Amino acid sequence: MSTKASIGVTGLAVMGRNLARNLARHGHTVALHNRSEQRTRDLVEQFGDEGDFIPAYSAQEFVDALERPRQIVIMVKAGAPTDAVIEEFAPLLEKGDVIVDAGNAHFADTRRREAALREQGLHFVGTGVSGGEEGALHGPSIMPGGSKESYDSLGPLFEDISAKVDGAPCCTHIGPDGAGHFVKMVHNGIEYADMQLIAESFDLLRGALGYEPAQIADVFRTWNTGRLDSYLIEITSEVLAHTDAATGKPFVDIVTDQAEQKGTGRWTVQIGLDLGVPISGIAEAVFARSLSGSASLRAASRGLPGPARTPLTGAAADSFADDVEHALYASKIVAYAQGFNQIQAGGAEYGWDIDLGAVSKIWRGGCIIRAKFLDDVSAAYTAEPGLPTLLTSGDFRKAVEDAQDSWRSVVATATRLGIPTPGFSTALAYYDGLRAERLPAALVQGQRDFFGAHTYRRVDREGSFHTAWATPDRTESPA
Ligand SMILES: NC(=O)c1ccc[n+]([C@@H]2O[C@H](COP(=O)([O-])OP(=O)(O)OC[C@H]3O[C@@H](n4cnc5c(N)ncnc54)[C@H](OP(=O)(O)O)[C@@H]3O)[C@@H](O)[C@H]2O)c1
Repeated sequence: MSTKASIGVTGLAVMGRNLARNLARHGHTVALHNRSEQRTRDLVEQFGDEGDFIPAYSAQEFVDALERPRQIVIMVKAGAPTDAVIEEFAPLLEKGDVIVDAGNAHFADTRRREAALREQGLHFVGTGVSGGEEGALHGPSIMPGGSKESYDSLGPLFEDISAKVDGAPCCTHIGPDGAGHFVKMVHNGIEYADMQLIAESFDLLRGALGYEPAQIADVFRTWNTGRLDSYLIEITSEVLAHTDAATGKPFVDIVTDQAEQKGTGRWTVQIGLDLGVPISGIAEAVFARSLSGSASLRAASRGLPGPARTPLTGAAADSFADDVEHALYASKIVAYAQGFNQIQAGGAEYGWDIDLGAVSKIWRGGCIIRAKFLDDVSAAYTAEPGLPTLLTSGDFRKAVEDAQDSWRSVVATATRLGIPTPGFSTALAYYDGLRAERLPAALVQGQRDFFGAHTYRRVDREGSFHTAWATPDRTESPA
């Protein structure tokens, strides 16, 4: 066993413990630390035989156990606890040492911490980690930000413990300061949209065809053998096929229909608004969770009128599952297109040079949105790094073209039967908005000029103009 550790992990709850075990299982000596000592003792007692661990019971002992330059991974609750841990360790470290925050920090906090620690000569690496506790143990998707120099030493370790797809590690240097946490945030936003679209597909198959959850599980299982092949589709079929042991009912029918959230979806939408990027699919997914959780509002609205949910029959019923598959795939392309546009916008705003081909490549394994689809996304952005939208790229353009009739018919059927499909509907509206020759925004500009003299631009002349709406002849003048 080495006398010093190549890396240390502080914060040994489920994520930190599994990350430390993953590192040790790959032959790295890992120093261990946790605020309360018991977690450290438990890890060594239960998993000490998995590799080389150096338990430490004080911050100084932990720092002393590390090779130089020291590499410390913080895996504690995001927010104030992360600041508290940084304040505890930073004074004990030396120039060139590296602090990694692998928790779910807001990227703005990461930018602030990085700038402060850079002043002290320390590297601060905000790192997105996706895959939950299983991923942390068996291979997550890892999204490190921070300096290029810090990646030189950390990269090989992280690539070693990350998931692998076709032999390629699901870890890459995303970009400076908060870039890693920003990309992780958008990953989670896309995850919300993906889950919402899948949930709507279930609701449609049940509401429009009258299928039982077990039948719908079979539909998802079939879809998982095609272009929708993904972790989320796979677990959906498992959840739908599950029967509640206590009641014998489908599990999905005994669960309260109020979706919770931890906040990264909300951050994605807030930042989308700040950057002016229309990430409507992600926003609708976050709002759909909020609506589901608005218990008293829903209770008060329960008797409101709507159409009867008469199941489809005949040819419409026969083709409906296929139509939903098309609509799901097309809407998924929109959700990813929007998410990648947000990463492009964040990159431009904060001066990060983010390689979208590399980002989609490391999402192919380890993380919650891992999917076969990401092979094609990665190929699209690798071929054309500045691609304005995924929707115009080769196979995706073709898929959306092929989906046209189905997508529109599914949204129309949902509307007719009163089945809420905010994800499908907003995806289609976004698509139609993008491809429109003229948008009614021209009228909005007229209204703005009318009530607020906000001016407008003309299609036939340069410059800004204002119409004197209050005068009888409504004369126009350059603004
Ligand atoms: N769970 C997931 O699937 C997942 C996935 C990706 C990322 N993450 C992120 O990974 C991080 C860790 O998640 P987790 O679920 O393993 O743990 P957690 O429940 O978020 O946090 C518990 C850990 O934080 C420590 N802690 C809390 N307040 C502290 C303070 N003021 N000073 C020092 N330590 C403090 C706890 O120490 P004590 O034992 O002493 O209380 C414990 O080690 C979080 O940022 C989370 O958002 C989680």
